[in-house]
Amino acid sequence: MSTEKIRKSGPLHGEVEVPGDKSISHRSIMLGALAEGETRAEHFLMSADCLSTISCFRQLGITVDVDSEHDAVTIHGKGLHGFTAPSEMLYTGNSGTTTRILSGILAGQPFTSTISGDESIQTRPMKRIMTPLRRMGALVTSLRGNDCTPLSIIGGHLCGIDYISPVASAQVKSCVLLAGLYADGETSVTEPSLSRNHTELMLNGFGGSVRSEQVSAAGQWKATIQPDPTLHGQKVIVPGDISSAAYFIAAALIVPGSEVLIKNVGINPTRAGLLKVVRDMGAEITIAAEYDRGGEKAADLLVRSSSLHGTEIGGAIIPTLIDEIPVIAVLAAYASGTTVIRDAAELKVKESDRIATVTETLTAMGADIIPTGDGMIIHGGKPLHAASIDSHKDHRIAMSLAVAALGAENTQGADSGTQIKDAGCVLISYPDFYEDLMRLGR
Ligand code: S3P
Repeated sequence: MSTEKIRKSGPLHGEVEVPGDKSISHRSIMLGALAEGETRAEHFLMSADCLSTISCFRQLGITVDVDSEHDAVTIHGKGLHGFTAPSEMLYTGNSGTTTRILSGILAGQPFTSTISGDESIQTRPMKRIMTPLRRMGALVTSLRGNDCTPLSIIGGHLCGIDYISPVASAQVKSCVLLAGLYADGETSVTEPSLSRNHTELMLNGFGGSVRSEQVSAAGQWKATIQPDPTLHGQKVIVPGDISSAAYFIAAALIVPGSEVLIKNVGINPTRAGLLKVVRDMGAEITIAAEYDRGGEKAADLLVRSSSLHGTEIGGAIIPTLIDEIPVIAVLAAYASGTTVIRDAAELKVKESDRIATVTETLTAMGADIIPTGDGMIIHGGKPLHAASIDSHKDHRIAMSLAVAALGAENTQGADSGTQIKDAGCVLISYPDFYEDLMRLGR
C-alpha cells in the first residue's frame, strides 16, 4: 500500500461534500435484499467496505446493479425468504459491519454458510454476536475455536429472545434485530446506552415494526422487533457520513484562518456526539442549512478555525462518537489544557487497537498522550512535528494523522512533511479523501 506525504498547511477554504454514510449504505443493501421489489440507494458510498457487502449479497443470489458514475445502486430484493445458499465462503473484507450484521440474517436461513474477511477481521471479537444468535437457536461455530471468524452458521428455525447486550454496539443490536425477522415471536435487544439507530429507522421505513424506548434511568435502551413483516423496496437517499466529515471539521478547526463549508452531513443524534464535544472545546460551527433524508437528518456545516481547550468525554455520549475518537485525540493535542476520554474500551477492538495506535502515532509527532484501560488522557498544546508514521492499515488512523500533519512543523526543511505508511487504507471508507483534503488547502 502507498505512502502519503502531508505537509503543514496554510488556511483551508472552500466547500466539500463528503461521500455517503457507510453505516446507512451497508444497511440499504441489506434491507434492499430483504425487501420485495427494487430499492435504489443514491449518494451510496462506493468504498471497499460497502462493496464487500454488495459482493456477499450477490453470493446469496441477489442482483445488485452498481452505477458508479452516479454513486447509485439498485438492489433487486427477493423478500425475507429469497436467498440462495452460497457456494463459497462469504468474504467480508475489512468490514466488521458486514460480518456481524450479515451473520444475523444468515442465522435465519435454511442453509449453512461460512463467513470471514481479511487479517484484521479475523482478529475481531465475534462472541458478542455468537452468544445471542446461539440463544435464538442458530448453530454458530468459530472454526478456529477463538471466537473470531471464520464462522460457520447453520441457520434455521429461530425463537425470539429478550437479549441484554453488555456493549452498546449497533452491529450487535442490528445483528439480533435482523435475526429477529425470522424468529417465532418478538425479539428485543437492550443496550447500556443508545448506539446508532439506522437499522431501526430504515426497517420502519421499509414497512417493518421496531419500537425503541429508554428503559432505565441509567440510560439503557431497548429495541423490539416484530417477526415476519413484508418489507417493501424504497428509494434511499444516503446522507453524507459525519465520520468522514469529522476530518474536515477537525482540519478547519486547527489550521488558523480556515473557513470550510461541509455539505450534506448526516446529523442523526445517535451519531453526532462529535459536534457537541467540539463545541464544548470552543469550536465555532454553524448549521447553514438543514434537511431531511427519509427520517435521517442532514445539515450543511460551516466551520471556522477556533482556539480549542480540553474537555472530558465519557458515558452515554461515547457510542455517538466512537469512530471519531482518533480525530478528537488530534483536536485535543492541538487544544490547550487536558482532555480525558473514558468509557471507550471498545476502541481496542476496532480495525486496530485505537487506544494503542492513536497513542503511538501522535506520540511520534510530539503529542503528550497517556493511554488508559478505557481511553486516554491528552495534555494538549505541545507543538506537533512532522514524522514518519504507520497507519496500521486502519483508515480512521490514516485520516486522523493526515489532519494532525496539517498543523505539524516540518523538521527537515520546508518540503519534508509527515509520511503516512499504508495510507491507501482510506479506500475502506473514503477513497478520495486525500484529493478532497488537498483541494481545501490549495
Ligand atoms: C457500525 C457500528 C459501530 C461503528 C462501526 C459501524 C455500524 O461499531 O464503530 O464503524 O454500522 O453498525 P460497533 O457496533 O462495534 O460499536
